[in-house]
Parts: sequence; C-alpha cells; structure tokens
Amino acid sequence: MPVDLTNGKPLAWDSAKLDADTKAMLDNLQPNILQAHVRESMSLLLVQFGDGADGRRFLRALVPLMKSARKHLEEVRDFNRSKKRGTPYVGVGISKLGYLKLGESTTKFTDNAFKSGMKRRKDTLSDPAVGAWEKHYQGEIHAIVLIGDATPEPVAATRTRVLALLPKTAKILGEEKGEGLRDAQGRGIEHFGYVDGRSQPLFLADQVAAEPGTNWNPFFPLSHVLAADPLAPHPSRHFGSYLVLRKLEQNVRAFREAEEALADALGFTGDDRPLAGAMLVGRFRNGTPLRLHGRPSADGHPVQNDFSYRDDPGARCPVSAHIRKANPRDSRDGGLERALGVMMARRGQTYGRRTDKPWDDAPPATRPTGGVGLLFMAFNSSLQAQFEFTQQTWADNPDFPAGKTGHDPVIGQGEREVKVRFPTAWDGKKLSAPQKQVPQTVTMKGGEYFFMPSLAYLKSL
Ligand code: HEM
Repeated sequence: MPVDLTNGKPLAWDSAKLDADTKAMLDNLQPNILQAHVRESMSLLLVQFGDGADGRRFLRALVPLMKSARKHLEEVRDFNRSKKRGTPYVGVGISKLGYLKLGESTTKFTDNAFKSGMKRRKDTLSDPAVGAWEKHYQGEIHAIVLIGDATPEPVAATRTRVLALLPKTAKILGEEKGEGLRDAQGRGIEHFGYVDGRSQPLFLADQVAAEPGTNWNPFFPLSHVLAADPLAPHPSRHFGSYLVLRKLEQNVRAFREAEEALADALGFTGDDRPLAGAMLVGRFRNGTPLRLHGRPSADGHPVQNDFSYRDDPGARCPVSAHIRKANPRDSRDGGLERALGVMMARRGQTYGRRTDKPWDDAPPATRPTGGVGLLFMAFNSSLQAQFEFTQQTWADNPDFPAGKTGHDPVIGQGEREVKVRFPTAWDGKKLSAPQKQVPQTVTMKGGEYFFMPSLAYLKSL
C-alpha cells in the first residue's frame, strides 16, 4: 500500500500492523523530521563540492554515520523507558545547485522556492541584499551536514569523522555552531528570553497522545513535512523533506528597549509591564499564552498550548503578535492554518554565548546588540506554501489578518510604515492611539534551501 500522507490519523510508527511501504519510509527517512532530535549542541557544516563524483562518494560515505527516522524513534522510546542515551544526529541536505553539481537533473523537484535557491527569493521575502549576508552564505552552497546531540563531546567526535571523509576537492564554506539556551527552570528559550519550540505540528501517535486538548489539535498529517524523494530508487516509499535554514541575528538590547517603550506608551506599571513584551510575542517569557492569561502563570509547567483565537478579536492576544501572525490557529472552518496547510516543523537552535541571564529583567543596556540569534530551521513539504507563505504573506504583510495590523514585530521584514494599536489592558475594551511599530530587531544574515534526501538515495550514490 503506498504511504498515505494525508491519513487523518497520527502515525503509530511502532505498530506491528504497519504496511511494508510505511516501514520502508521510516527506515529510509532521515531523523529530526517527524520528531525533533536532541540538538542542544550543534554543528552545521556548509559544503561546496569542486567535483561531482567526489561529492557523491562523500555523501555515500556519510550514510554509516547516519540513522533512520525509525532508529531515532526507537532511541527516544528507550531513553524515556530507561534513560539509555541515543546516538548523535547526522543529517544531510542538498541544495538545488548541489544536485546539479552531483550531476543530477532537478526537473522532478516540484518546489519552486527550492529550485530558485534562497538568494533568488530575496525580493519575495524582503531579505537584505546578498552582499550584506555573511560571506559563507554568499557563495554556492551545495550541501549541509547537520550534527547534533545533547552535549558538545559527541558532536565534536562526529564532526571529526565527517571532516575526515571530506574529499580534497570539496571545501567547508562555513560552519555554524548551535548552543541551546535555557532559562532558570531549564526550559528552552530564544535570545529575547522567551520559551521557544513549544507549538509544533505533531505527526506520531505517541506524541499526539501526550498532548491532549480541546481547543487546538496539534496533529497534522505527514503531507505537512514529507515529500517523495524524486531521485530515490522508489519515490513511493522513499521520502525526504525540504529544509529552510536562515541565520537570524537578534539585537536583544533593541528588543528590550522596544518592550520598555511599549510598556510606557501603554501605561503599564508594576506587574503589568511584562504584558508589553507578551503582546509582541503572544506569550510571556515563561511561555504562558496571552490568549489564556494576563499574567505569567506561576510555574509555567507544562507550557500551555491548548488554545485557539476563537472569541479573541485581539483584546487578549493582539492579532499582530508573533505567534498569532505565524499561526493564526483560528478554528473557524477547521482553522485557517489547517485549511491552508502552512504549519511547518520548526527545528531551529540558538547560537552565540552570553554572560547575562536572557530571562531576567536586567536593563536593556546590559544586553547584546549582535553576535547572538537563531539558526532558524524548519522542515516543509513545500517551502513555498509553508515557510515562504508564513514569512511573506503573514509576517511581512501589515494587512494580515486585517488592515493596519502591522508587521510581525519579531520577524517581519520590510518598511514598518503602518501605525498600530494595542489593547491598553489585558482583555480590555480600549485600544491605544495608533503608534509607530516596534523597530526590526531580527536581521537575516544568510541562508539556503535544501532537500533532505532519503537514505536510500544517499546509498545509491
Ligand atoms: C513560535 C520566537 C523566527 C514561526 C515562537 C515562539 C517564540 C518565537 C518565542 C513561541 C514558542 C512556541 O509557541 O513554540 C522567534 C524568534 C525568531 C523566530 C525570536 C527569530 C529570531 C521565526 C520564523 C518563523 C517563525 C522565521 C517562520 C517564518 C513560528 C511559528 C511559531 C513560532 C509558526 C508557533 C506559533 C504557534 O503555533 O502558536 N517563535 N521566532 N518564527 N514561531 Fe517564531
């Protein structure tokens, strides 16, 4: 039976009843796509091949260092049962130019964004000129090798093994190092200090069972992340996923100043001041959703995710808040997000070291203005319909979901000319006078689109 990507039920990956094609899919799919792999420590190697045949040999030689999605899921199960540590994550992505260098035809890939490459999409996404990107993103990136684990040591050892396989004709254009950032309670946060990575599309039965809810259904069919691998021996059972990588630098000082200025403008004092930042993000720093609470809930454990924006025209969570722009969740007609199929699997990691505590209230002047940020990564079955749609049609569009909403305050790119209004109290009736949008504090420093091929393809090289 061909793999049913639109199946309305979560995938029971360890069921004895799985059909042969779905088993083959899991045995040939790379990990970290269906379920996030632990990647507290990461190394991303951006590779350029000088010779196609050498490039093919290199990619094939990486296979023994890699594991399948099924092996990863088994490792996760064993860890949950007995705390047995798993093996490092090694992932491989190939860009359009990379496939051409390897001597492949790319006509069978259907995603136009992938086929253009990120550089040629910069106007669509209002990205900075390529000349302003970091040097290693300006050249032709052919492949990316992602290495990740819970601690730096296995990452360093695996990185050494990968580099030992690199042919003389290939070079590493650059390397990104991801380092997880955690708050005092151990929750994963991003550099502005907010809990991140909480709301995800879930594909697997055990994941969905662990997140019951009545307002938001986190289950999404496999069609959101999987795409047939057109160059694999059997594209009906060999699947991959499109990866977007964007290095997003965060000016933390400027963001903190914007939070303070907004709190002043809205007249928030005392315990209400954190409302300003929450109105930009849609959650308080500890992850408490503004849709549900006007104050951060005491412990924030577990971080709530069972909410929709039905019945909230923006009095609780402004329609311009980052999480609301990026996932409108409205459950009318099954949900705008669901109807359009936009939700992607976010697998980013923070980069850059700090000596301050990103989650506390220390003054903005003590915060970094650069050198830290997010290596934004997400898996898509269509880059155009998911990542690009989110960035262009929602985040960068001041008229989404309605006129004069403004840009996404966190990731919106383009001129922020429209003046915006915020509620003057949580769940209040009054709106503020129109005011300037907060300045852009996230800067794109480079990136690329890749396809993460099936292991069957890599073995066939
Ligand atoms: C959620 C921060 C970039 C899409 C979140 C959350 C935070 C956050 C704090 C809330 C945690 C959660 O619900 O998982 C940031 C920062 C970014 C960034 C600081 C850049 C430096 C992006 C980009 C996109 C994006 C580039 C897509 C174009 C999303 C989505 C959600 C989310 C879809 C989940 C919303 C939901 O389902 O409720 N982000 N983000 N983010 N972000 Fe971002």
